[in-house]
Amino acid sequence: MLGWQDVDVETLRTQRLLLRPWTLDDTDFVFGLYSLWSVQQHIGLHPRVMTERAEAIAVIKRWQGMEHPIHAIRAVTDADTGEIFGNLLLKSIPASSAVTPMEPSGDTEIGWHFHPNAWHQGYATEAASAVLAEGWKTGLDRVVAVTTPNNRPSQRVCLRVGMTHQGRTDQYYNSVSELFVAFAPEP
Ligand SMILES: CC(C)(COP(=O)(O)OP(=O)(O)OC[C@H]1O[C@@H](n2cnc3c(N)ncnc32)[C@H](O)[C@@H]1OP(=O)(O)O)[C@@H](O)C(=O)NCCC(=O)NCCS
Repeated sequence: MLGWQDVDVETLRTQRLLLRPWTLDDTDFVFGLYSLWSVQQHIGLHPRVMTERAEAIAVIKRWQGMEHPIHAIRAVTDADTGEIFGNLLLKSIPASSAVTPMEPSGDTEIGWHFHPNAWHQGYATEAASAVLAEGWKTGLDRVVAVTTPNNRPSQRVCLRVGMTHQGRTDQYYNSVSELFVAFAPEP
């Protein structure tokens, strides 16, 4: 198995895509993406759209400050043109708790937030498959995804990337979610 130091978790190339770190030059895209109810409606316990550009700047800075050998929150871009399609997240998932902020559960979650202009082209599936493959190489053994019960497009991505539906759970985010799990392939 490769050690995390042998793998470039900054950028990741697939057939059509380049995943790369977010920069403040991407603020307009991030603000535009998270200003859309069609994107935000299934995200978070109390979904709301961004209304201030400053929120996009703050969130990019938070992503940039995430120091972890394997976890990453990256822009998914067209490998040829650089056009940004969405956000691919591999990160710690918080456990449901009465305490604020919620503590990490110890599990790693994968997530995807794409601009509607980039839906229905297989980009989320392609990016997520590559991130999972990279995760297995860097030593992860289990990755979860949670969706709201009615987020069928996201559930289809989970299944397309080989995750298994485990039913409903309330163990994360103080909310009831559909839980999907992927395991590292046997060596
Ligand atoms: C969830 C989300 C990323 C799914 O996006 P998506 O584009 O449907 O997912 P994929 O990238 O897997 O694309 C699959 C579609 O592309 C099509 N497609 C076209 N070319 C393809 C290719 N080369 N490879 C694979 N699929 C391809 C598939 O047939 C499928 O079509 P369909 O949507 O008409 O069934 C998107 O709906 C989204 O960002 N939603 C808002 C944020 C959100 O809810 N995130 C999840 C929170 S849990």
